[in-house]
Amino acid sequence: MRTFAVYNLKGGVGKTATAVNLAFLSSLGGARTLVWDLDPQGAASFYFRVTAAVKGAGKKLVKGSLDAAGLVQSTEHAHLDVLPADFSARNLDLTLDAAKDPERRLARVLAEVADDYDHAFLDCPPSVSLVSEAVLYAADVLLVPVIPTPLAMRALEQVLDFAARKGPAGLVILPFFCLVDLRRKLHREVVALKDLPGARFLKSAIPYASIVEQMGTHLAPLATYAPSSPAAEAYVALWREVVRRTGRALGRR
Ligand SMILES: Nc1ncnc2c1ncn2[C@@H]1O[C@H](COP(=O)(O)OP(=O)(O)OP(=O)(O)O)[C@@H](O)[C@H]1O
Ligand SMILES: [Mg+2]
Repeated sequence: MRTFAVYNLKGGVGKTATAVNLAFLSSLGGARTLVWDLDPQGAASFYFRVTAAVKGAGKKLVKGSLDAAGLVQSTEHAHLDVLPADFSARNLDLTLDAAKDPERRLARVLAEVADDYDHAFLDCPPSVSLVSEAVLYAADVLLVPVIPTPLAMRALEQVLDFAARKGPAGLVILPFFCLVDLRRKLHREVVALKDLPGARFLKSAIPYASIVEQMGTHLAPLATYAPSSPAAEAYVALWREVVRRTGRALGRR
């Protein structure tokens, strides 16, 4: 199983939309796909129309008092399951803090289901925390959506620094531009600048498009209700590029 964490310490940059759309595309290609909603806001669970069946599930999972397999919910999409968020995830930091080996805990939970899935996607809350540290250890690939503004580029530098200090060696970090509005001069300028030392931007970028926001009314991935929209095509291109780049960086495993 290969694990993709969609992470940024910045909020509202398109993490959840990316996790949901890429996971759907992964499942559409026939890969057995799991989405783990680590954000107590539960947006990814909401888009896939699932809710946690067990109270305090997130906490129990991380503590090891419940099995991941028992909490996984199937969705209406083939090959696509979700470990839903529940409100106890808001205290995941405290739960981890009280646990032994906190930064390995999420990886350990994923190891339980590693034979059942080809791809796991972690939808992460926007923070720099113990949960984020555990995400670094659980992931093979960190997908970092970045809005093309100077402040967001600074946040990316902080993510790279955090991953370098706290993450394991060999973690593949793939930043890409998201919510891009090329009518804006600032966005054009930042997109043109691109690469930072330590991270090469993916060539694919996700445009700002109100059709993406409509995921909230359709409660479904973009490709199910607007498959030929430019934004849906951008997610397809992004997923293809991620698969190519990770295949090259991590080898076939
Ligand atoms: N490409 C896009 N174009 C326009 N709106 C978008 C796009 N991607 C996401 N959005 C909208 O922007 C808002 C934030 O997106 P999303 O929830 O994916 O970000 P996030 O990084 O997961 O946020 P949070 O940090 O709160 O978890 C949502 O209302 C979503 O519908
Ligand atoms: Mg989110």
